Amino acid sequence: MEEKHPFGHFDDAAREYVITRPDTPWPWINYMGTRDFFSLISNTAGGYCFCRDAKFRRILRYRYNGVPMDAGGRYFYIKDGDIVWNPGWKPCKTPLDTYECRHGMGYTRICGEKNGLRAEVLFFVPPDARCEIHRVKLTNTGKTPKRFQLWSFVEWCLWNASTDMENFQRNLSTGEVEIEPDALYHKTEYRERRDHYAFYGVNRPYDGFDTDRETFIGMYNGFDAPQQVLAGTSGNSVAHGWSPVASHRFDLELKPGASDELIFVLGYVKNPQEAKFTAPAVINKAQARKMLQAYGTPSGADIAFATLKSYWDDILSRFSVASVVPELDRTVNIWNQYQCMITFFMSRSASYFESGIGRGMGFRDSNQDLAGIVHLIPERARQRILDIAATQFPDGGCYHQYQPLTKRGNNDIGGGFNDDPLWLIFGTVAYIKETGDFGILHEPVPFDNKPGTEVSLLEHLKISFAHVTDNLGPHGLPLIGRADWNDCLNLNCFSDNPDESFQTTENKTEGSKAESLMIAGLFVAEGKDFAELLAHPAVAADPKYVAKVRSAVAAMETAVKTHGWDGEWFLRAYGYYGDKIGSNENDEGKIFIESQGWCTMARIGADEGLCDKALDSAVEHLECEHGLVLNTPAYTHYIKDYGEISSYPQGYKENAGIFCHNNPWIIIGEAMAGREDAVWRHYCKITPSFTKDQALRKVEPYVFCQMVAGKDAARPGEGKNSWLTGTAAWTWKCVSEFILGIKPQYDGLLIEPCIPAAYGTYKIHRRFRNAEYDITIHYTGRHGKHFIPYTPGRHTLEIEL
Ligand code: BGC
Ligand code: NOJ
Repeated sequence: MEEKHPFGHFDDAAREYVITRPDTPWPWINYMGTRDFFSLISNTAGGYCFCRDAKFRRILRYRYNGVPMDAGGRYFYIKDGDIVWNPGWKPCKTPLDTYECRHGMGYTRICGEKNGLRAEVLFFVPPDARCEIHRVKLTNTGKTPKRFQLWSFVEWCLWNASTDMENFQRNLSTGEVEIEPDALYHKTEYRERRDHYAFYGVNRPYDGFDTDRETFIGMYNGFDAPQQVLAGTSGNSVAHGWSPVASHRFDLELKPGASDELIFVLGYVKNPQEAKFTAPAVINKAQARKMLQAYGTPSGADIAFATLKSYWDDILSRFSVASVVPELDRTVNIWNQYQCMITFFMSRSASYFESGIGRGMGFRDSNQDLAGIVHLIPERARQRILDIAATQFPDGGCYHQYQPLTKRGNNDIGGGFNDDPLWLIFGTVAYIKETGDFGILHEPVPFDNKPGTEVSLLEHLKISFAHVTDNLGPHGLPLIGRADWNDCLNLNCFSDNPDESFQTTENKTEGSKAESLMIAGLFVAEGKDFAELLAHPAVAADPKYVAKVRSAVAAMETAVKTHGWDGEWFLRAYGYYGDKIGSNENDEGKIFIESQGWCTMARIGADEGLCDKALDSAVEHLECEHGLVLNTPAYTHYIKDYGEISSYPQGYKENAGIFCHNNPWIIIGEAMAGREDAVWRHYCKITPSFTKDQALRKVEPYVFCQMVAGKDAARPGEGKNSWLTGTAAWTWKCVSEFILGIKPQYDGLLIEPCIPAAYGTYKIHRRFRNAEYDITIHYTGRHGKHFIPYTPGRHTLEIEL
């Protein structure tokens, strides 16, 4: 086993992943921050931070597509004699005597040792603070006294991460700094419209500094050979334009066995308009100084770290399992929930696969993300639902994305994705089932954020539902619009211009017959949930309306059975001209996963055996060693009528990749069909803690990927797009509700597991509203269920099913 896990291992007791060598097959990253200041940090301290918006309020500069990989971060250089090294190995890459990186919940600890000097750096963002803390502990582990030097180094981004990479005629003249004994301040553009600045401070007088990159690094040097460090000096440079940076230097001495500690604070401050300056052109530093004082002592930093720890202890104390499968326990108790939180915070904006520039908050993405966090941070889920709903239009359609900074819909991308509205029902149902907060349905929510247009959230749900029934195609199935969940199945796009984006180019939906079986399944599943919500006594909707909802659902089931069944599986779609897609009649793309997932979750035609048959077909045609591929056979050439899906090489992304997001749809379908062996097998294949070959997987072994290369790819099993993916919330829903069987209902918890009997005895701890449940479950494979009505207080139960 060891040689297959050469890069690291889990430390479950500490809730950490321990990386034991720095040259991982891809940077293995972590996130810091819980509210509006966020950081990405790799196992070699690469990465960047931003406040609220990764595009507009970028604090550290980062180089994408960098050579070498992952250039830029928070670097500490140590010069001990002639040797220069970094605790995190990069950028100098001087071989270390020991190296360890521990990614924990909201913090990362990197420790390097060289020639009897140990440097441990703890990086974290205190909850609700707008700063990173870098706590550097240096220890002389040798037998002789040590004299050495330490430099800090960060490079500032000129706020807008996009123009920072493009508009050099302007950028190279704008940079401005202020230098103070406590901190180096970055105040580019502060004089104009801006009211924010950044700073990098330290809790002790420094022996030298630099704020100009060229002075510190040297015009033709890399980060691995800064000229000041090599010379053992600082330039005491003051940046005027070009590229502002921040570096402090310390000349240090340590007796054998002795330790020293420096605490750095890298922060962001926004000032009120009337308190921007303390003198002409001098920024008001009061808030920065407050942060430096609060965190710049060992006890201050201890308290901040303890607060962070207790934040995550509290979050992760809400749902836990103790089973006989350690991989399952660590996924459920730690990493899956952590990833759900991070995905909720970031949406799809900033990762090592998402630039933080391109995408805002997706309407469908953010609604699905809710399923992973409603039990953890319900009050934030509530706000998110209201923000999302406010980007809807009066006809039930919506903006596909909105910007986190303004919460306004994104006009460049627009709307017209016909699955979008239904996800609002999905997210709201998940929230109310968890919290019992039916009151949210009465919250006034505007259309397109326009004041004065408010209707209740319940009305928004009704128009979401109606958006499907108002847009049916020739077979009574939902028209697909620009695309459904599969953004790359572009049936109304007909793009033959390689310079246009499939995602934004104009579509020919007028007169189109393109219908989606994925939306049909989603509509039936969500329609049933919607009817149940409406009929609940706490809502007591007009029975005539509830009956209308039910009959629309029944009509859709009939349409699917009549026009959406291909003989062995559910069709995927009808194209613009009414041609079949995802049919045995096609040469390629004969079967797709999405319609098998959604139609089996909706139990369409279950009595006639359609669900079992569709699931069998998924196993037969889509399953491979590493999971279920999206479609098969993969498209081997570009098809104008299908769009982006056929532009990908076989086995990648939406063209027959293992798109992990939709594997749980099949797993839940399997669970609803009561087939626990298939459930467990599919689940283990996509769950990273079961990974057998870290080098092949390439990306972090502690978080789910959006995509793993499928059977037709050059390297099946190679993972990509880790961290920010709907896979997090869907695998959470799948494992918590459908495998372990803890299903929140409006009035209690329904226990209905589907797990192989060999693993069927486990304990669950579940906080549910104002109750704490300790449940011991013995699942024997009889497919029983047990309802626990909600009552506040502590409850201990033992259930055999
Ligand atoms: C990707 C999709 C993604 C879409 C929207 C496409 O290129 O393949 O996975 O949803 O872009 O950004
Ligand atoms: C990623 C996008 O974020 C999501 O909205 C989409 O559904 C999937 N890709 C599938 O295309």
